[in-house]
Amino acid sequence: MDRCCLLIDTDPGVDDALAILMAHAHAEVVGLGVTAGNVGLAHTLANALKLVEVAAADTPVFAGCPMPLVRAAADAAFVHGADGFGDTGYDPAQRVPAAEHAVSAILRLARERDGELTLVALGPLTHLALALRLDPDLPKRIDRLVVMGGAVNGRGNTERVPAEFNIGFDPEAAHVVFEGWPQFDLVDWEATLRHGLDFAKVERWLMADDPRARFYAAISRRTRAWTRARGRPALMVADALAMAVAIDPAIVVTAEHHHVAVELDGALTRGATVVDWEDRMGRRPNARIVQTVDNGRFEALVAGALGAAC
Ligand code: RIB
Ligand code: CA
Repeated sequence: MDRCCLLIDTDPGVDDALAILMAHAHAEVVGLGVTAGNVGLAHTLANALKLVEVAAADTPVFAGCPMPLVRAAADAAFVHGADGFGDTGYDPAQRVPAAEHAVSAILRLARERDGELTLVALGPLTHLALALRLDPDLPKRIDRLVVMGGAVNGRGNTERVPAEFNIGFDPEAAHVVFEGWPQFDLVDWEATLRHGLDFAKVERWLMADDPRARFYAAISRRTRAWTRARGRPALMVADALAMAVAIDPAIVVTAEHHHVAVELDGALTRGATVVDWEDRMGRRPNARIVQTVDNGRFEALVAGALGAAC
């Protein structure tokens, strides 16, 4: 597997953390753009800085937007903890964020590494929308965009039932990206539900004698307990699944190309991802909708990021 070159936009949170550890273990990471989402920007930024320290890397971290483009949105602290990392009270990282804004960093790095970067969006799409508005030609300079977001058949994970969190947090931003980016890979919540991680395997990987395993065991404890308490059959790690698709494109087993749009106004459906499955709208397919991946390869990428044997 060739080591790809990743630029990651993220709202760390617990599943973002696993994805970012995977990125550092299996790829080159040129930067982390940090947005509000799972929790507020102050926490997501501190979490991103800490993750770079845990990964023993020197990846630059760029602070971004503290809120969505138009309407404020509820966070996901009830899943990830008030601080986004399970409220463990970890020692803050010594490093500080870069002075450059996350949107500016996306535009600059895309020019400096023209055609080389895989852009991985693990949170609300606020930064990508602003970057597109500033530079509509951005997609020409990015080799590949992988988005964790959406619920392609309406089984979302927010109080607006068909909406998934990342899209639902900033629907206007997702609309701008989905309409302005010619072709991207979409890893949605329903694919996440199909590819949950076995609890027993995760527990075993987290026993590895590795600082990454110890840190992830601590910050994920609350989320793992919450997931089990809800009776879920496995650990859902949406961002880790999207990161696996970014790192190892050959992991994808089945996918479909269709146009995906974002509902902005429905009282019950704002933030829903609407897929033209029968290609009736006459709209060019903009998304490769990932449906299934090779579970063995997915598990190996996760275990490797924790310093564990699969
Ligand atoms: O719906 C799952 C997504 O929302 C993940 O990116 C998770 O971190 C949250 O941001
Ligand atoms: Ca996320």
